[in-house]
Amino acid sequence: MTRPKTKILVDGGDPQETRWVKELLGFVDGQTTNPSLIAKNPHIRDLIASGHKLSKREEMDEYKKIVQTISPLAGDAGVSIEVFSDERTLATEMFDQGREMFSWIPNAYIKYPCTAEGLRAAQMSVKQGMRVNITLCFSQQQAAAVYAATKGTKQPAYVSPFVGRLDDIGQNGMDVVRNIKQMFLNGDGHVLVLAASIRSLEHLLYCFVLETELVTVPAKVLELWANTNFPMPDKQFQYKSSGNPIPYEELDLERPWETFDIQHELTRKGIEKFVADYRATLSRPA
Ligand code: E4P
Repeated sequence: MTRPKTKILVDGGDPQETRWVKELLGFVDGQTTNPSLIAKNPHIRDLIASGHKLSKREEMDEYKKIVQTISPLAGDAGVSIEVFSDERTLATEMFDQGREMFSWIPNAYIKYPCTAEGLRAAQMSVKQGMRVNITLCFSQQQAAAVYAATKGTKQPAYVSPFVGRLDDIGQNGMDVVRNIKQMFLNGDGHVLVLAASIRSLEHLLYCFVLETELVTVPAKVLELWANTNFPMPDKQFQYKSSGNPIPYEELDLERPWETFDIQHELTRKGIEKFVADYRATLSRPA
């Protein structure tokens, strides 16, 4: 297999699965997790099925155990751990969770949502030398805000544009990835693009063409890649999408982050879904 320049992360919440992917590929550069994936972890599912719902503390402790098992399996792209937040969670509350999560493993990236409070939490975090991954990104303006909010970070910050969820609403999700990559050519390189919500081999291969620094991929797509003998895109590769094209915007990365339009319906819906999934595991939903 020709190892791609793009780092490959496993998008999941089950250490067994990560171990299996590592055997399949021979390497795993990193891992991303989120509240929905943690709720699907087999051990958590067994607990819920046996009638035991978790307290908030137990949920954090289970999440900690999961990422501590995954951490040594991951390469230098680290393990992304997402804070539990809803639409009312303040930046300081996210930051407090993030700080605790960052102490769990030596290779943590803390995931904050791409909202005003999430970006404030990210700003506080990078000032403390923490690594961050800004998730639920659906637009170039949001990525520009991530760039501006994390300027000065000593460690690379990740931004995660969600491809599949844009495709689901009839847009060409890969356009956002391509536009962000193009925009960052004018930047200082402190934000790396981590393509997320990957659903197909075509998504994966186009990420290789665009040379996204990282891509997070569900095990079943990696299994397909392995079973087809690890194809790589050739010069003729053309990415085909039936979604509406998303045009490139000329944006000045030196603007303050608050001046970018960071509202996106899918960010709001994404937070709602994460909240619904983790609340379903709790004994006393907030
Ligand atoms: C990873 O960081 C994201 O949370 C994940 O890729 C989302 O994927 P989905 O849209 O398939 O839920």
